[in-house]
Amino acid sequence: MKGAGNETVICPGSYDPVTNGHLDTIARVARIFKHVVVGVVDRPVRKQQTLFNAEERREFLEEATKDMENVTVEVFDTLLVEFARKHGATVMVKGLRAISDFEYEFEMNQLNRKLDPEIESFYLMSSPKYSFLSSSGVKEMAEFGGDAGDLVPKRVADMLKERYRR
Ligand code: PNS
Repeated sequence: MKGAGNETVICPGSYDPVTNGHLDTIARVARIFKHVVVGVVDRPVRKQQTLFNAEERREFLEEATKDMENVTVEVFDTLLVEFARKHGATVMVKGLRAISDFEYEFEMNQLNRKLDPEIESFYLMSSPKYSFLSSSGVKEMAEFGGDAGDLVPKRVADMLKERYRR
């Protein structure tokens, strides 16, 4: 199976909401693979309710990646390996920021590997300027009235302001 099946790659996540760090990862992945499917999970992850529903999160990503021709965005609510199989992808890519991401990703990797050993997970080290940027940090900042305008796409920053104004 040398070299087979790696034209489409999955970039999965909660994207609640998408940050400039996510977009940097997606853009870098899009330069390497022919087709990138960004998978937005529509289930609570680690029992956390999301701030934005899956359709909102998908729309933010759609808008932010509209100039990346080989990137599509899709919501999924299945196992990640099933989502990858559905797209004929044998590779999934996740961004890795600080060491704090490692333990969780290592566990996920082992579960995914057990579910489907044919599907590999690749990890892309985040660009230094995004090493400490997270969706939860951005939400906390916005909740307390901080301006997240430099950290997320403009539409997301506007929606964060609106959501937390209530
Ligand atoms: O952005 P996140 O929160 O790190 O993304 C987590 C995500 C969506 C990649 C992960 O929760 C996931 O894959 N969920 C789907 C269910 C699944 O397949 N879990 C892993 C094996 S049990």
